Amino acid sequence: MKIVILILLLFFSNANAKDSFLSNDEYAKMLYKNPRGIGCNLCHGEKGEGLVISSYIKGDKKISLMAPRINNLSMRRFTKALEKGKRLMPEYFLTQQEKAYLYYYLTKQKN
Ligand code: HEC
Repeated sequence: MKIVILILLLFFSNANAKDSFLSNDEYAKMLYKNPRGIGCNLCHGEKGEGLVISSYIKGDKKISLMAPRINNLSMRRFTKALEKGKRLMPEYFLTQQEKAYLYYYLTKQKN
């Protein structure tokens, strides 16, 4: 009897684990905020709308460091930008699939 209960318990705990798998939407969002490095959202904004990262005064001018809007780009431009090093942006080593998820996350939203 104990063994039957144990087997049933194992079966049900497994079924629960299956339910807790991330959906595509959740995975894409998680990746945008934590892409094995500094989160894209910290510079480009929560929805890729672009953000002023920081600003400083030089002489009598205010200089702003901007991260551009990235939720309106073609897939090609988006993935290209992630392949070569940029001026300010850190280099990422993302798989094609991860890039596709990030692109999906940014473009699926109504802006
Ligand atoms: C430290 C801030 C910072 C982080 C973090 C960052 N970026 Fe950027 N990104 C920039 C800046 C600034 C530019 C403009 C080019 C430059 O100066 O490097 C840029 C450029 C881009 C471009 C090219 C835009 C265009 O118009 O061609 C894309 C696409 C992009 N980032 C996507 C991402 C994604 C996706 C992530 C996360 C994996 C990310 N960035 C993380 C700052 C950042």
